[in-house]
Amino acid sequence: MILLPGLLFILWGGAARCLGEDGGFTFDGDLRHFAVTTNTVYIATEEKLYQLNHDLTLVHSLTLRGILKGGNQQPDDVSFYRVSETASWNATFKVNVLLPFVENDTLISCGVIDKECGYCEVLDLKNISNLVHRESIQVGPLRSSNASVAVLVNLKKNPTQDTYILTGVQQHQHNTEQSSCTSNIQTVNLQNTVEKQAGGIFSLNDDQLTPSIRSKGDVEFVDGFQISSTMYLLSNVLSAAKSNNVRLIWLEGKTSKTQTYRSLRGATLSVSEAGGEGNRLLASSVIPGGPSVLWSGLFSVDGGQSNTELLVFDISPDLTGEDDSDPDFCSVCPEKTSVTKPKTLKPKAVLFRQNYMTSVLAVRQKAWMVFFIGTGDGQLIKLAVDKDYHTACPMVLYRANDDRQVFPKILLDPVDHKHVYVPFQNQMKRVPVSKCSMYTNVQECWSAQDPHCVWCGSKSRCTFEDDCTDSDWVSIPDDHQHKIVSYKVEKEPTGQIKLNIQTHLTVGQSTLSRFACQFSASSSELCSRSGPPPLFPQCTCIFSDSRLPAEGLGVSVRIRVGKTHFLEQLTLTNCSNIRGPPSSVLCQQCIRAGCGWSKNSCSWANQGVINDSVCQTMESGMNFSRPVISSITPSVVSFYGRNHAVLSGQNLRDVTRVRMTVDTDCTPQESPVWNNTGVNLTFHIPRTDGKGVVKVCALLPDGGCHGNTKITYRSSPSCTKIVPSSSWVSGKREITLMGSHLDFVEGVTHSHAPQRVRPPGSSSYQNLTYDTPAAENSQRTFTSTVFLRVANETLSCSDKITYYPDPEFTGFTSTRIGDNVRITIEKEADKLEMTAAELSVWGVQEGKQYPCIMKSKETFPKIDLFICFIQNTPDAEFLHLMIKYGDKTVRLGPPSLLHQVLLILRLLLIPCVTVVLVIICRWQKKLTAEMNKL
Ligand SMILES: *[C@@H]1O[C@H](CO)[C@@H](O)[C@H](O)[C@H]1NC(C)=O
Ligand SMILES: *[C@@H]1O[C@H](CO)[C@@H](O)[C@H](O)[C@H]1NC(C)=O
Ligand SMILES: *[C@@H]1O[C@H](CO)[C@@H](O)[C@H](O)[C@H]1NC(C)=O
Ligand SMILES: *[C@@H]1O[C@H](CO)[C@@H](O)[C@H](O)[C@H]1NC(C)=O
Ligand SMILES: *[C@@H]1O[C@H](CO)[C@@H](O)[C@H](O)[C@H]1NC(C)=O
Ligand SMILES: *[C@@H]1O[C@H](CO)[C@@H](O)[C@H](O)[C@H]1NC(C)=O
Repeated sequence: MILLPGLLFILWGGAARCLGEDGGFTFDGDLRHFAVTTNTVYIATEEKLYQLNHDLTLVHSLTLRGILKGGNQQPDDVSFYRVSETASWNATFKVNVLLPFVENDTLISCGVIDKECGYCEVLDLKNISNLVHRESIQVGPLRSSNASVAVLVNLKKNPTQDTYILTGVQQHQHNTEQSSCTSNIQTVNLQNTVEKQAGGIFSLNDDQLTPSIRSKGDVEFVDGFQISSTMYLLSNVLSAAKSNNVRLIWLEGKTSKTQTYRSLRGATLSVSEAGGEGNRLLASSVIPGGPSVLWSGLFSVDGGQSNTELLVFDISPDLTGEDDSDPDFCSVCPEKTSVTKPKTLKPKAVLFRQNYMTSVLAVRQKAWMVFFIGTGDGQLIKLAVDKDYHTACPMVLYRANDDRQVFPKILLDPVDHKHVYVPFQNQMKRVPVSKCSMYTNVQECWSAQDPHCVWCGSKSRCTFEDDCTDSDWVSIPDDHQHKIVSYKVEKEPTGQIKLNIQTHLTVGQSTLSRFACQFSASSSELCSRSGPPPLFPQCTCIFSDSRLPAEGLGVSVRIRVGKTHFLEQLTLTNCSNIRGPPSSVLCQQCIRAGCGWSKNSCSWANQGVINDSVCQTMESGMNFSRPVISSITPSVVSFYGRNHAVLSGQNLRDVTRVRMTVDTDCTPQESPVWNNTGVNLTFHIPRTDGKGVVKVCALLPDGGCHGNTKITYRSSPSCTKIVPSSSWVSGKREITLMGSHLDFVEGVTHSHAPQRVRPPGSSSYQNLTYDTPAAENSQRTFTSTVFLRVANETLSCSDKITYYPDPEFTGFTSTRIGDNVRITIEKEADKLEMTAAELSVWGVQEGKQYPCIMKSKETFPKIDLFICFIQNTPDAEFLHLMIKYGDKTVRLGPPSLLHQVLLILRLLLIPCVTVVLVIICRWQKKLTAEMNKL
């Protein structure tokens, strides 16, 4: 669990810089399917079919809309086709199957026209605007394509024509697809790919028969593939008991379709001990490499979307059982009645638990398995796993600022193997599989635990292995290790001390022979007599115990591997000097010093246990009362973190730091405690790369960490709309920002007054209110950008606010209505769109203020009128009004006769008279102002 201190920064803080960078290809319409060949990416959306280069530059695109027979000439970029008489002439083509058939140089795209009839086009793989063949026939499903699969497979036939389309079509008993077009499509089908095959292209037939596999209940297919001669289909089957079973079926590629279907055998994949029921398979990927067929599946544990796990199964075909006797699927049905309970497969390992995982891609890199995992909140996570299923710390390769779901399929770029295609609803991203260049020294490069990265000695850089041309490199070993170097201190029978250094490295071909270590202490050579010569991965140094003082000895070890060298600083201690009452702290201190733990005390490494798991069962040894965490406020934050979070609980007095752990194999992140009252403490929730849940515990000085609370990291706030979008210059207008995750905003600032942070009034996920800051010494119109403050981050809103001069109230009239007085306030027209709710008005009489209840606003070309009522004032005559908006209070003088006349005239809308009168009025006002000054 001890990693180099530098790693903490790398894993969490450092990567954030380049995580969210944009780019990628944005398409028209939502994604339906995509496929990748050696150097081309094909994307079918609701609207279009695209052909892109592997770097996502556009080559061709077709609009999937058909001009039917008898129609006019079609434009070049429109996919054209002819369908049955019944279809309307302006029909849409929804692609449900998209298969590049590389051997034939064609792209097979099949689907449905106008939600009615099956239709297929065979296009030129190099240029999708060239049509090779078209036919009104059903291949794959007619409706929802995301619960069906289609793959190209090979049977044992004439090798030049043995490729078939294997489809697994979703079955839903209560919602059978009704179509005016007939089709023999069943649950599992094999269809021809070329005209030469018996029955012609797309035929289901085998000689005279139309064989297939049917299901006995509802089925949703998740994945399908072929490895050597075996075909694999993975599905969720709703059993009679209405709970879900994850089913795998194996088919052997035989000499005919019929024989292939008859080879049907199956297994049930069980996630939990209780059996497979209730789990759902969401996405899957075969782990390349053999000999056994390892496969990774993303399962929903509770049947929903949130609680998801990544598991590994060995799904090597088991051909021992009787064929075609599955309880859920049958080829000869219903004649064949013998049904055997299928074999149950248990997972080999649970690799990763995280909410909302949606997609997975597994690749091999040297001895490691690497998983690329897409999530429902827009992340691409990389997880390296060694052969013993130890996972390295997950890395976030891409993180969308918002919650965009990753489509359930991720593919590797087959050209460079250094990018993955990550599809979102309307966008395809090409994300590098590693960010090796981010790490600037050997230790950082190693600590990243990224099997794609090596430290290239000749370039002195962290790179992909194939970018290190002279193969003089070092990288992580084949198994998961926490440190680049470990050491042991032993005592020889002669009384001399033996220091044994073990490096945990994999090295390139050319470096093996050039391995050396140089030991020095207090700038002189340490080793006294020559021990065994260095032999990768170990070196040894033997020295006299007189050189080991009681207070310890600082030793520098310079390790050279090929052109790479790095320095390790060790502090050696006389193991028998590590003394005290036995405790886990002492035990850990002992083992960290390269010594061994034996019989409740510390001794030399060759005389005790050197694995720190021995310490975990021991008592902490110090007398601190055990802290209890009851809550953290807030406990849901954006990935930018949060300043001044409050942790509450009991016995917090001795807590020095708050520790946050993503995963047991990640270096935890720690935050110092600020104010601590024993029941409450404040700390800063640090920013992270990823979104998701982290565990929190309270750390004591003895290293014990107690409590098990959670903090959830979510997406960043964003604001897309501002209402109203203007403010008066004197400020304090209440504004509503709309967007997402606005409850994470801690303050709002403006570009014209960045220092004045406005606290949010009320906030929710969608809305946030605040008051605008004033525009200092400015009365003219200008626009100001609105910024959201989230922890230490400042994010700008996409809209801006315009500042206009303060509203000008020009006069008022009052009319008595019974006991009430109706006040009509007159204001110059402006662009502020001030509402009645934004004004507070009082009538003033003999120094007393009477609130005027706002009723309405009326807008005229050059004037706005606000109408309010002062209630229950039998005998009042109001000479003044107090008008308050924002922070400002204005006193409006007595209504003059002139004003009343003006008002009437203006309302009569006599424009030129109005202009004249306005001038007179302004002049009069100015005069009044002058008089007042005097
Ligand atoms: C076909 O339908 C689309 C969308 O419904 C429409 O935009 C287009 O104008 C129509 N074309 C013709 C020729 O009717
Ligand atoms: C590819 O498929 C088309 C359509 O079936 C066929 O006409 C053509 O001969 C095939 N080409 C090759 C190279 O197999
Ligand atoms: C927390 O400490 C700061 C100074 O570090 C102090 O200003 C503040 O009042 C303290 N808050 C509480 C709640 O004790
Ligand atoms: C501790 O924090 C909680 C939540 O912020 C607050 O309600 C409570 O009053 C605080 N208690 C003390 C003693 O500060
Ligand atoms: C914000 O910055 C301060 C000062 O650099 C730092 O102490 C604090 O931890 C940061 N907060 C977050 C949430 O990263
Ligand atoms: C957000 O504010 C708008 C405008 O004020 C309002 O129409 C909407 O109902 C508010 N939504 C929520 C969730 O409060």
